[in-house]
Amino acid sequence: MTASWQADVAAVGARFDAEIASATDLDALRQVEVAALGRKGDVTALMKQIGTLAATERKPYGAAVGGLRGRVEAAIAARRDSLTAALRDAELEDATFDETLPGIARRRGHLHPLSIVQRQLEDVFTSMGFSVLDYPEVDSEFNNFEALNIPSWHPARDMQDTFWLAGGHLLRTHTSAGQVRAMHSLQAPFRAVFAGKVYRYEATDASHEHTFHQVEGLMIDRHVTVGHLLDSMRTLLSAILEREVTVRLRPGYFPFVEPGFELDIQCEICGGSGCSVCKQQGWLELLPCGLVHPNVLRAGGLDPNEWQGWAFGLGLSRLVMMRYGVADIRLLLGGDPRFLEQF
Ligand code: DAH
Repeated sequence: MTASWQADVAAVGARFDAEIASATDLDALRQVEVAALGRKGDVTALMKQIGTLAATERKPYGAAVGGLRGRVEAAIAARRDSLTAALRDAELEDATFDETLPGIARRRGHLHPLSIVQRQLEDVFTSMGFSVLDYPEVDSEFNNFEALNIPSWHPARDMQDTFWLAGGHLLRTHTSAGQVRAMHSLQAPFRAVFAGKVYRYEATDASHEHTFHQVEGLMIDRHVTVGHLLDSMRTLLSAILEREVTVRLRPGYFPFVEPGFELDIQCEICGGSGCSVCKQQGWLELLPCGLVHPNVLRAGGLDPNEWQGWAFGLGLSRLVMMRYGVADIRLLLGGDPRFLEQF
């Protein structure tokens, strides 16, 4: 390399200034970039020639070529920005591109109405100090019937037509099957709720389904009274329904409670005038409840002289129907997207 390297460096710079300016698309610009700064590029080649210079020339030469490289890099970056911006402008001006068209909406999944209400209930009960438990849908004859003071000869078995399975097992007909499980697994005193699917072998109509949902509540303590039970039921109904509801209390018979009650609520579908959901009664049985029968406490390993309790079985499916104005229980588990998409 001669002493006229200044001219060489200036010539390379001028050539790339022109090539960068005349690169009309990003691919062409990329080729200029490789030709200048790539491993075999001209600017890179200039850098390598520093070794051929006299020692006194190396410093000014290095500064000049380094400056050139910085200038070329900056020019390429600027050109790339302006080409990209031009591309975007051209897209926006394209008559076939309509930026006012709505985008492609993504469909999001959502919870089933039964899950929505179940979670709300569990929140309410958690805030009232209840544990939230979960028990199997396949249970034993003992847990579902015997332990609940319903021996095999008892006529109450006919009230709950049962899907029997092999080996003395069954599909639980009510969440009450969890009561003695809870008594065995939790230390008294305790309060717990357990929700889930229950099964009845029966014909279906607008208010009956072979598979539906219940929430069971159980509180075990010393000195539990009916007054306590009623007060708790009132508190939880107003928390759950989030509005004033008209309720009525009747005596009700269930072998596992004594005394037992039926807490009815006025039908929200028809406002009490009678419809297919309430079977023209104007009222819906929503919350059967009572004081836990001593035989059930015994089956759960608790001494009835020391412990008492109250229990309720809430019709979760019915509650969902009332909350959302669903007139036919079969819609809940029917799987029709036209129904489910409304929630
Ligand atoms: N297990 C009953 C049923 O499914 C409902 C029930 C009644 C539950 C009274 C209770 C209760 O806990 O105390 O029909």
